[in-house]
Amino acid sequence: MATELTWLGHGSWSIAAGSHQIVLDPFLDDSPVAPIKADRVEADFILVSHGHFDHVADVAKIAKRTGATVIANFEICQWFADQGVEKTHAMNLGGAYRFPFGRVKMTIAHHTSMLPDGANGGNPAGFVLFLPEGNVYFACDTGLFDDMRRIGAAGLALAALPIGDNFTMGPDDALEAVKLLEPERVVPVHRDTWDLIAQDAAAWAERVRAETRAEPIVIEPGGKIAL
Ligand code: NI
Ligand code: MN
Repeated sequence: MATELTWLGHGSWSIAAGSHQIVLDPFLDDSPVAPIKADRVEADFILVSHGHFDHVADVAKIAKRTGATVIANFEICQWFADQGVEKTHAMNLGGAYRFPFGRVKMTIAHHTSMLPDGANGGNPAGFVLFLPEGNVYFACDTGLFDDMRRIGAAGLALAALPIGDNFTMGPDDALEAVKLLEPERVVPVHRDTWDLIAQDAAAWAERVRAETRAEPIVIEPGGKIAL
């Protein structure tokens, strides 16, 4: 088994884990930075962290075309089921479940989660994927929180952290997050989608190198990371 993660810009990822295709928070058709459109994405599972448009935008269309199972909190699963998405798997904070590609744990995130039509999107979340080649933490949209230390205790091969500021952690707090999580590698995301969250990712990577033991990986949308 090999695992390859492709950053689709913003908070969106496509993950090839063995024979399984996993998509996280697809925001493609209306994203100014996404390297592909939603109709080109293959998916067996779609992870959804919270209800904001820049995370749920293309979920229903991808799920309906591919038959993928949507994995999200109970409220978001219900919202997609009401739109005709046939397969959903509801989880909630602190819970984990073993899927065919590996175990997924839903972790806390300090953010909000209202869905685009005003429906209650439950609580926002992050995810830890326990994959054969290593554990990957997607913080998704969140501010810094000290319990990241507990998430890191699982041993992380890779952490994807927002650095865009304004809506999520900015560079300073994301650097603190690296110190709490102690991942082997870290990739900065939720940045440079719009001017509002423009950041100097290379400068941030230099600080990660200087102040932590993690290896920063700065990629552009479409860039890949092999686990
Ligand atoms: Ni958000
Ligand atoms: Mn967001």
